Amino acid sequence: MLCTGPTRRQHRGAGGSGGTPPMKTILVTGGSGVLGRALTPALEGRADVRVLSRHADPQPTFRQGDLQTGAGLAEALRGVDTVIHAASQPSRPQADLEMTGVLLAAAREAGVRHVVYVSIVGCDRVRAFPYYRAKTQAEALVAAGGVPFTVVRAAQFHEFVAFVLSRLTRAPLLPLPGLPLQPVDVHAAAAQIAQVALGDPQGRAPDLVGPQVIALPELARSWADATGARTRVLPVPAARRFTPLTRPDLSGVGRTWAQWLVQEAARPNPYAG
Ligand SMILES: NC(=O)c1ccc[n+]([C@@H]2O[C@H](COP(=O)([O-])OP(=O)(O)OC[C@H]3O[C@@H](n4cnc5c(N)ncnc54)[C@H](OP(=O)(O)O)[C@@H]3O)[C@@H](O)[C@H]2O)c1
Repeated sequence: MLCTGPTRRQHRGAGGSGGTPPMKTILVTGGSGVLGRALTPALEGRADVRVLSRHADPQPTFRQGDLQTGAGLAEALRGVDTVIHAASQPSRPQADLEMTGVLLAAAREAGVRHVVYVSIVGCDRVRAFPYYRAKTQAEALVAAGGVPFTVVRAAQFHEFVAFVLSRLTRAPLLPLPGLPLQPVDVHAAAAQIAQVALGDPQGRAPDLVGPQVIALPELARSWADATGARTRVLPVPAARRFTPLTRPDLSGVGRTWAQWLVQEAARPNPYAG
């Protein structure tokens, strides 16, 4: 049953009758994560934002709920116009898929008008990573989910690349193939995703990438230079052609990798804790 009762009507009227459209209420799943924490300020003053988390939090915007069990979801979705689905469990791809199914069922029930699904550039072309396969399957689930939707794919965030490199560069010698990446500033990606969420459903939004394509050995070298890691990077030939995870045909957004390194490489990495 769609939610058309007083709660929704009261909510829609909250913007006043002077011709200004009322603010949308947007629920951000994964709002406590790396992208989610950048989405909240990007939406501030432009939407009534709620954050879904499995954990209790005293902040008034937080709603406790679990996308695997469905607990708390109906309450969190009450009066919500748009959901940005950024919750994820990369180490458990099947759970990731299940969470999307549970969210879609609850969103249909609650009368949500737009689900924005955050996916990964090139995920449908990578068969080797179970997580990327799950993202592709989740995109299809969203498209068939009965709620108007937009899928927006982003490249790897600078923070994520840095986290992987911080682990790899512990080795004294690091053989790496020349996999090209186009890492993106999470704040710039969040600004674009916020814009998508404030607009109408569009099925598929343009991919979000950073301003430069950089091969993995070069990323590792620059990371080592910026952080003092003593690893020696050894570029090695790839066993086969790389699957494209980049979109050099698009204008990238946000800070370059080099700019990000100068400003943030020394800070604690959000994926480390
Ligand atoms: N990382 C990248 O480089 C990258 C690149 C492109 C696209 N993406 C996509 O962007 C999205 C966000 O990625 P991220 O790196 O920001 O993620 P993240 O920091 O790992 O955060 C994931 C969030 O998911 C929430 N979550 C996990 N299981 C949940 C459950 N059962 N119920 C409710 N919430 C749950 C967690 O919230 P609580 O712990 O508070 O419950 C957590 O805040 C993902 O869809 C990812 O595929 C990421």
